[in-house]
Amino acid sequence: MNMHATTHDELHAEIADKFDTDAMAQESTLLNPRFYTTDFDELDRIDVTPVRAEWDKLIGQMKADPNKGHFKKTEAWDKVDWDNMEPKLKREFIDFLVSSCTAEFSGCVLYKEMKRRGKNPDICELFNYMARDEARHAGFINDALREAGVAVNLGFLTKAKKYTYFRPKFIYYATYLSEKIGYARYITIYRHLEANPDQRFHPIFKWFKEWCNDEFSHGEAFALLMRTDPKLTTSFANKLWIRFFLTAVYSTMYVRDHARPAFHEALGVDIDWYDQEVFRKTSEIAKQVFPMELDIDHPRWMPNLKRMERAFRKMEAAEKQGGLGGQLAKLTAGASAALAFASLYTIPVKKSTPPASVRLEPAY
Ligand SMILES: [Fe+2]
Ligand SMILES: [Fe+2]
Repeated sequence: MNMHATTHDELHAEIADKFDTDAMAQESTLLNPRFYTTDFDELDRIDVTPVRAEWDKLIGQMKADPNKGHFKKTEAWDKVDWDNMEPKLKREFIDFLVSSCTAEFSGCVLYKEMKRRGKNPDICELFNYMARDEARHAGFINDALREAGVAVNLGFLTKAKKYTYFRPKFIYYATYLSEKIGYARYITIYRHLEANPDQRFHPIFKWFKEWCNDEFSHGEAFALLMRTDPKLTTSFANKLWIRFFLTAVYSTMYVRDHARPAFHEALGVDIDWYDQEVFRKTSEIAKQVFPMELDIDHPRWMPNLKRMERAFRKMEAAEKQGGLGGQLAKLTAGASAALAFASLYTIPVKKSTPPASVRLEPAY
């Protein structure tokens, strides 16, 4: 938690000159990490009694703080030659770090706010630990960015970024998924680089294993919160919402990753393979609480992800083009993206029955 407070002033002093990272972090497009706000009073009324035994165990783990000393540079932090990094890779990697930092920090802001506004001791304790972790994560990425001569001004970002209001149940679905997908992303890169250390072009990836365990626990907490109210995952309407969030989160990730070809090439990772792998892990984990998974091997899945990605690229180009031609092109591309999404959303899901005990341990 203090990480943010202590580094804030330093961050202030070192804002980008070459790259406008504040503007990058502040941008609110459909694809960039968002800042959320919710009905904190409703969240505060949650009663964790139905999951008390598992809850106490999880909170005990978080309280023990196994990663307390992890997010510090050690001798394992190799010197990074930013000046000689291939410009396209540098641009994409910085973009990756900025958007990761923003995502981590947006979690921190939401969790901290819940902790600040809440009166329910169970909820406050949980959100306090999660805010602590996310502040460390964001701070650590910012440390890496600072070496490149850039840093995201987190204090400024809190004020300047637009907040999206989500009802608490949408926060559960979206945040649960983003924590679990975060775990799956970090661990997949970590395992890949463990097998191919020559492709680790930056030391931050060495920190990903313990890091992703934090995200895993955060996801566990949201799984428990959802278990306190069975309606959240069993009613007809909520199942449609869950499908919606799964489709939206997966397809957004696909489009976003494909905007960084040089970054993935440097890692030696095929983006289609990587994304499918992350979806597979996330879907397997999410069966702990969601009564279905998306069929990512369905013949309509990949073609429509690709269609959506092309549509987003066209939208971006149209925006740059401007004028009436640009407007029209943007509309057409937008419609094509919407159709692709509809096609993905209507792929029949694979139904499953969540286990009696919700808790999982990281297994990848
Ligand atoms: Fe995090
Ligand atoms: Fe997290």
